[in-house]
Amino acid sequence: MSLDIRDAAPEHLEGIRAIYNDAVENTTAIWNERPVDLDNRRAWFDARAQQGYPILVALEAGEVVGYASFGDWRPFEGFCNTVEHSVYVHADQRGKGLGPLLMAALIERARACGKHVMVAAIESGNAASIRLHERLGFVTTGQMPQVGCKFGRWLDLTFMQLCLTPQRSTP
Ligand SMILES: CC(C)(COP(=O)(O)OP(=O)(O)OC[C@H]1O[C@@H](n2cnc3c(N)ncnc32)[C@H](O)[C@@H]1OP(=O)(O)O)[C@@H](O)C(=O)NCCC(=O)NCCS
Repeated sequence: MSLDIRDAAPEHLEGIRAIYNDAVENTTAIWNERPVDLDNRRAWFDARAQQGYPILVALEAGEVVGYASFGDWRPFEGFCNTVEHSVYVHADQRGKGLGPLLMAALIERARACGKHVMVAAIESGNAASIRLHERLGFVTTGQMPQVGCKFGRWLDLTFMQLCLTPQRSTP
């Protein structure tokens, strides 16, 4: 497989939208039930660019097979050193190590942005994601039962986090 991980460009938004909407319709990885249109992804792309935050895509033969990004964890100044990320791999391409590659690149970008902590908010039944994050050194720091719902049932949330700059003693 010849894989290329790079910053997303507007031409990748349709591929990103397709992966996102598949997760909306078929998984509990994201807690929306309504698919989004291209304008929605464009607005997200522009907002990330404005904040100076990356959207990375994994391309195989020019096709988007996965993407990852982060944004502010909470919109208050005191949380400015912490980001929350998302990572999605095309349903046909899972289990091939793309998620770890995207995440490794994203973690480096978060360090380059001067961030201290990365937070993953994961549906507690999402074993593939929890395992992926454990392997990357994330530790579970929170469990929140029944804080969400989708497909007519309650969903539990697991928070995992990674300290990006453990040697940094002050903000
Ligand atoms: C979670 C996710 C990003 C992991 O990416 P990935 O590229 O599949 O990661 P890996 O290749 O390291 O596989 C992770 C585990 O999932 C298993 N897996 C998941 N889906 C699979 C599939 N369709 N086929 C085969 N194995 C699969 C792998 O075997 C592996 O298990 P292991 O750790 O026991 O070996 C990806 O499964 C995904 O996009 N899922 C839907 C969206 C999602 O949950 N995003 C995270 C939200 S917090």
